[in-house]
Amino acid sequence: MCGISAYYGKENGVPIILQGLQRLEYRGYDSAGLALLKNNEIEIIKTKGKITELKALAEGRSANIVMGHTRWATHGEPNYINAHPHSSADNSIAIVHNGIIENHAELRKELQEKYNYKFTSQTDSEVIAQLIQFFYKGDFEEAFRKMLTKIEGAFGIVALHKDHKQMLCARKGSPLVLGIKEGEYFIASDPTPFLEYTKEVIYLNEKQMAVIDDTGYKVKDFNGFNLTTELETVPYGIEAIQKGGFEHYMLKEIFEQPETILNCFRGKIRHIDSISIKKENIKRIIFVCCGTSFYAALVGKYIIEKTVNLPVSVEYASEFRYRQPMLFPTDLVIAVSQSGETADTLEAIRLSKSLGCNVAGIVNVTGSSIAKECGQGIYLHAGPEIGVASTKAFSSQIIAFILLSMYFSQNPYFRKEVIEDLEELPAKVKAFLQIQNIQSIAEKYKHAKFFMYMGRDINYPVAREGALKLKEISYIPAEGYAAGEMKHGPIALIDENTPSVFIVTKDSVYEKVISNMEEVKCRKGKIICICDEITEEIERLTNDIILVPKVRWELTPIINVLPLQLLAYYIAKANGREIDQPRNLAKAVTVE
Ligand code: AGP
Ligand code: GLU
Repeated sequence: MCGISAYYGKENGVPIILQGLQRLEYRGYDSAGLALLKNNEIEIIKTKGKITELKALAEGRSANIVMGHTRWATHGEPNYINAHPHSSADNSIAIVHNGIIENHAELRKELQEKYNYKFTSQTDSEVIAQLIQFFYKGDFEEAFRKMLTKIEGAFGIVALHKDHKQMLCARKGSPLVLGIKEGEYFIASDPTPFLEYTKEVIYLNEKQMAVIDDTGYKVKDFNGFNLTTELETVPYGIEAIQKGGFEHYMLKEIFEQPETILNCFRGKIRHIDSISIKKENIKRIIFVCCGTSFYAALVGKYIIEKTVNLPVSVEYASEFRYRQPMLFPTDLVIAVSQSGETADTLEAIRLSKSLGCNVAGIVNVTGSSIAKECGQGIYLHAGPEIGVASTKAFSSQIIAFILLSMYFSQNPYFRKEVIEDLEELPAKVKAFLQIQNIQSIAEKYKHAKFFMYMGRDINYPVAREGALKLKEISYIPAEGYAAGEMKHGPIALIDENTPSVFIVTKDSVYEKVISNMEEVKCRKGKIICICDEITEEIERLTNDIILVPKVRWELTPIINVLPLQLLAYYIAKANGREIDQPRNLAKAVTVE
């Protein structure tokens, strides 16, 4: 999901591409590389490190056809071998790839076993170069298009062949844009890398490819038919592009959730038993985690206990690792961590392993310390989360728990039902994000000095996550509570200046939450209500209503957290807060 930058022209492309890759650093990456095509040879230069190291390695090189890549690993840990570009077995072809090739394993197996192809990396991407070689009979473009018919998943690909003065690219599910200048052509994940050279662009659409050579550029469909395209002019500067046109990374990542939710379950829900977690003789699951990941894991507890009848406990890693927990060889201890580098969570896993437990990870960053320590688990594939306040990782963690419940459940009907509802979810999330009215509500309550967030059942942890979001970016105190707990103390906090955010899904505890809202109302508390149906009681009790789409019980936390993320964002923005890097906070707490 990271960065591509390529150049075809009359200048030395090496410095152009190195600077282009630097412009893409904001997307987060773990390794980088570039390929130079010159005199019928392809030279590849790669590093596990940063662009500055790549620059040093590429010192003095020059070529007019160059492609570069910053990798955010999804398959195969971050190291030199797995860094892009990847070559075909005969070194005639090089490719760079953004995205995930879902059927890479079967394609690799066939090339290895039937045609004795040798692979060098653990990545999914390498199969692209190998397949082009497999189909190559002298026509590079034709071999490239045949490869496109075999691969499944999301990809943005650029490819070179040593014997062809051509640059080919193709897009399906991972963006690619062409930059057009007189006699010079650029290909990149977004216009950032070439914006100072040209603002004239062509955004490839789904299932479109492009052929660049000395005659110019042609945009085609995957069958090779030419397509007429219009040049567009990029209307804004580099800074805006890096945030996708959003003011903050946090807002961009909130709006990425339709895509990141899809990326989390795509390729898994119809191969659920390929999840690599040992499940034989497991009698209990223990989640060890911190912060937002802890609240996501609390949701996971509700989902797994209800659908799989397996006891689940959720532990703050910082407590778990110091209290001599009672652990058994039949325990499965799962680390839940976006960064995969949280020190307390890492140490909790190490403790569990030392006591003979099975361990696994639900992690976003491939090849991170926690992922390596666990050795098995589920990757979120949410792409780099740059805003310190976690948003898209939370929703992907919930998806991961649903996949886990499907994996442990042997009920085919449950699995079938969930697959149908999951496939409808990204569109529902996108629809809500497009019509929501949160900014106006945030304006109304931005001066409040304290907020209560309340929910019951599977949405009680969502209330706690909503309170955390507000606290950490607006610095306004907030409490997330089980609504049923109100009368055991917190209700003393309610008065006409205290907004209470209630999550009210029409489910088994609906009536109970309504009675909690009554208790707040009769103490003059203001109520903001997130609901999937506007009933007469809600109309009567609520000051502001946020209507969300109806979804199945297990998916309600994903829908209900969206307005809470946006409410926190817009209140913080209205108060002029530094949203992406809030005071005192780090994106990964790698120290105790
Ligand atoms: C959440 O918005 C915060 N950034 C923080 O609570 C975070 O969730 C916590 O530090 C755990 O991080 P991890 O998921 O990377 O382990
Ligand atoms: N899935 C590919 C890999 O893991 C590409 C990842 C990316 O988009 O950077 O190498």
